Amino acid sequence: MRLGVNLFTVFMVLLLSLAGAIMACSFTSSQPFLPVDTLARPQSLQLAFPAYFGHHYSIPENNPQTIEGFELGRMLFYEKALSINNTISCASCHQQQHAFSDTVAFSTGVDGIKQTRNTMALINLLWLRHFFWDGRVTGLENQVDTPMINQHEMGQSFQKSIQKLKEKKFYGKKFKAAFGDEKITKDRIEKALAQFERGLISCNAKYDKYLQGKCTPTQSELRGIQLFYGNPTTVAYTRRPNCSHCHGGAKDL
Ligand code: HEC
Ligand code: HEC
Repeated sequence: MRLGVNLFTVFMVLLLSLAGAIMACSFTSSQPFLPVDTLARPQSLQLAFPAYFGHHYSIPENNPQTIEGFELGRMLFYEKALSINNTISCASCHQQQHAFSDTVAFSTGVDGIKQTRNTMALINLLWLRHFFWDGRVTGLENQVDTPMINQHEMGQSFQKSIQKLKEKKFYGKKFKAAFGDEKITKDRIEKALAQFERGLISCNAKYDKYLQGKCTPTQSELRGIQLFYGNPTTVAYTRRPNCSHCHGGAKDL
């Protein structure tokens, strides 16, 4: 008796799957699927740097580096509409030609008031975990809120920034390319800016070329390197500069 039920069940399952298959076939014949590679999807972005930079970094799993995310982040970094009076972008204070900092002791925000701290250069942030001079923020995504909202920097709510980005039609397409659909959200703005900043890698200075064996420093430069990395010594009345105590360099990344 049990066998009979089971056979009947198997028969019904087979019949139903056959019907399903036929329906599926007739559906696909009138509406062909798109080939997978024509579906828009962000392309992974490999960050390149010399091996001596080390791998003591982590990229959040929910924000992988992509070409489209990086491009969007770059646009947002230079977007003055993210400030309350459309005059200031991240790049106003973080200027590429000055190592993504500027040349003044204290930069000025939207309200014309000077910052209380020096603008930080944005270089090799991939290897950092705590941001700002006092390290008060953990994670690049979380850092973005401060300059955007702070009334002495860009001084605009996220709600307003999102509304202004929506008015610029091309942003919808850019958010879609980076995140799958046209929605513009606080979370996505933070993620795109963080992706751009993780890509700001400097690894082609003369010192890098020296570490890569591609250039020979002068005697004077070699003495400079020794002094820079010179630790305090036990030799009486000698201090040595010990610059590397604070200016870590690649070996500490
Ligand atoms: C008005 C000038 C100004 C603007 C505009 C500005 N910043 Fe900054 N940035 C600063 C200053 C000043 C600091 C250091 C602040 C502190 O330590 O409290 C800083 C620090 C940072 C840091 C920390 C770097 C580190 O090594 O810890 C990051 C990252 C950063 N800014 C990114 C941005 C982004 C992204 C934007 C745009 C959304 C932006 N900044 C807009 C002045 C500015
Ligand atoms: C006790 C920590 C410390 C030591 C030791 C130290 N520095 Fe600095 N240095 C800093 C800090 C912090 C800044 C950034 C100040 C700012 O931008 O407001 C800085 C900035 C600099 C700058 C300017 C960088 C820029 O982007 O404008 C140079 C150049 C520099 N240091 C060289 C040296 C040299 C050379 C030595 C060794 C003789 C040295 N430092 C030792 C902490 C230190």
